[in-house]
Amino acid sequence: MLTFSDVGLLKEGGRIEISAIDLFHLRGLLLITDATTADVRHLVDQFGLVTEHPHAARDGATMIHPRPKIGVNERGFTRRHLDPHTDGTAADRPADLVSLHCLRPAETGGEAVLVDGRRVLARLNEQGFGVRAVRDSVRLVYHRGGAVRSVFEAVAPARYRIRYRDDELAAPHSELPGLVGALRAAVAHCAVSLRLRAGQGYIVDNGRWLHGRVAFSGERRMLRYLAVLRPESAYVPGFTVPSDEVAPDDAS
Ligand SMILES: [Fe+2]
Repeated sequence: MLTFSDVGLLKEGGRIEISAIDLFHLRGLLLITDATTADVRHLVDQFGLVTEHPHAARDGATMIHPRPKIGVNERGFTRRHLDPHTDGTAADRPADLVSLHCLRPAETGGEAVLVDGRRVLARLNEQGFGVRAVRDSVRLVYHRGGAVRSVFEAVAPARYRIRYRDDELAAPHSELPGLVGALRAAVAHCAVSLRLRAGQGYIVDNGRWLHGRVAFSGERRMLRYLAVLRPESAYVPGFTVPSDEVAPDDAS
């Protein structure tokens, strides 16, 4: 169970401290507490540029809450659980940042679930699959066709981003025996849950952290922003792998 004291800060004396950005740089994750919607927007704006989304209002915010009717890929607008995933898995460039802010908690359930992709890759490596083999063999395949993507994509020497979903639309595949099962088990093993009350939430690096939620009852309401990093941002998205696992062609 992740708690807010794990990641510290957020608001003191009515204003967001700039050190929030330093915290984000450490783990690609920032937990938010006692924040208004304006606080969260201010914080997201410091890191990134809010992007448009078909579900979003004009200011880029999307209210995630149960709706009477949903379409394809709109499970978020139900009370059902959401398996850990990254957002925008089919996009050429998924959002760099995902922010979710609780405006109204669930009556029961509804905990946020977060999974550090860096830990998932490290665990597979410990189990003997090897970072390079995992990178080269695990693909995200859409059940109805479409682009096939790497689940762990090398974005710089020894730096990776994760792109993941495992649901009715797409799933990971690999030709290496046992690897997909181990990947699913690693995602489950590395999952931490977080009960959110109103005013709490998180901002994650969408190339490092998976997010999801537990099924719930009640009228849970979450405000979401998707953003790309500001060009001037010093934050480098994704995560590093253990140096002894860097393949020779990565290190050059
Ligand atoms: Fe999502």
